[in-house]
Amino acid sequence: MRKIAVAMAKGGVGKTTTAVNLAHGLASQGKRVLLVDCDTQGQVAKFLGEKPPYGLYEFITERRDDGQYIARNNTIHPSRRNLWILDGGIRLVELKNWLGEQPREIRQTVLAQKLVPKEGKLDFLIFDCAPSWDVLSVNILMAANEVLCPVAMQGPSLQGLKTFFRYLQSAQKLNPDLRLEYILPTMFDRRTRHSHDIFNQLKQYFKRQVCDPIHYNVRLSEAPSFGQTIFEYAVRAQGACDYTYLIERIMNHGDRQE
Ligand SMILES: Nc1ncnc2c1ncn2[C@@H]1O[C@H](COP(=O)(O)OP(=O)(O)O)[C@@H](O)[C@H]1O
Ligand SMILES: [Mg+2]
Repeated sequence: MRKIAVAMAKGGVGKTTTAVNLAHGLASQGKRVLLVDCDTQGQVAKFLGEKPPYGLYEFITERRDDGQYIARNNTIHPSRRNLWILDGGIRLVELKNWLGEQPREIRQTVLAQKLVPKEGKLDFLIFDCAPSWDVLSVNILMAANEVLCPVAMQGPSLQGLKTFFRYLQSAQKLNPDLRLEYILPTMFDRRTRHSHDIFNQLKQYFKRQVCDPIHYNVRLSEAPSFGQTIFEYAVRAQGACDYTYLIERIMNHGDRQE
């Protein structure tokens, strides 16, 4: 099973857009995917037009709001064929408190310990991360082994990257299996010089990891308001082509398709 964290220390760079479309694209290819929303904003369910009754909080603590026991399997919400979600949202604030109260030795690895699907049940675990760095983010990076880092080709995007690499290095000390596998340029606007400049800089620093860019595409920003992925909302749009290409690359374990 592949375990991919979509992470970057900056909001609004396309993390959720990438996590949702990647997860649905893989599921459409017949892969069994669990998408875990690790952000208090709880955007994953909204992007998919879902309202799951339970989520990651209940999954980890095995408790409902009223304190009653709930089995883990009942906290996982089926969303599409081959695609399940573990909802995030505001309850994750409580989850962080709960994690903070666990004994120091296990605090950072609770998620990794609990999120172990039965053999053959899942092909991909995808984590949609929050931009912040806290006990939950550390837990995700202990549970994942590949990192996909979206970088917006607009604004001062390389700033967030430096901070993020500091985080990543400290996580790698605790989880030596964790590899930065994909750097995904997002919101690429081929008409602007700025987009090309940042893209070229990225290519200089990171050769192997830099993926073909996801272009700025208005369909990608419209789809969530209909609770649809790009493959449902506008399968012929540039955004769908770009994500299809990324999915092929990921299915080929990072090897570029020519
Ligand atoms: N390639 C893109 N082209 C146009 N809009 C995009 C693109 N990627 C994301 N967006 C839009 O930008 C906003 C931020 O994206 P989001 O995925 O929520 O970022 P993050 O999860 O990093 O905060 C959303 O409104 C989303 O619909
Ligand atoms: Mg997000």
